[in-house]
Amino acid sequence: MALLPILTAPDRRLKQKAAPVEEVSEKIVKLMDDMVETMYAAPGIGLAAPQVNVLKRVIVVDVENYDGGEEHNLLTLANPEIIEKEGEIVWAEGCLSVPNFTEDVVRAEKVVVQALNKEGKKIEITAEGLLAVCLQHEIDHLDGQLFIDHVSRLKRAIILQKLKKRKKSE
Ligand code: NI
Repeated sequence: MALLPILTAPDRRLKQKAAPVEEVSEKIVKLMDDMVETMYAAPGIGLAAPQVNVLKRVIVVDVENYDGGEEHNLLTLANPEIIEKEGEIVWAEGCLSVPNFTEDVVRAEKVVVQALNKEGKKIEITAEGLLAVCLQHEIDHLDGQLFIDHVSRLKRAIILQKLKKRKKSE
C-alpha cells in the first residue's frame, strides 16, 4: 500500500467529473487500498479518487475514524449512486482538499446508495446522519463538487482566497 498525495483547492483537477469503473479490477482494488491508507493517515472519514488525482468513481468512507484509530465501519465503493434520499440535515463539513475550514451544509438526512463493493458485488447501503452526509460529500467529489460549492458565493470566495494565499506561502 502507499500513501497518495491529496490535491487541495483551488485546483482544476478537483472540478472534473470522474469516469465510471468498468470492472473492480486488481488495479481498482489497489487504488481502494491506497485510498484507505491515505484516509486513515490524514486522518479523515472519507476520500474520493479525484482527491488523489484519479478520475475514477471510487470512494472510501469510515465515519468511525474520527481519531485516526482502528477501522470500524469501512466502506470501499465503486460507482456509488444515490437512488433514494429523504429529509434534511445540516452538518458542519470539512474536507481534506479544503484543509482547516468547516461550513454548514444542507444535505439529505437519509440516503440509499447503490454501488459495487471491493469484490465487485452490487450492494445497497441505507445510511442516515453522518454516514449519509459523508456519502453525499464523497459522491459530490466524483462530479467535481466540493462542500464549499454548497455555501454562499461570498463565503466560498473568501475560503478560496485564503487557500490560495496559504498555497503561495508554502
Ligand atoms: Ni471532501
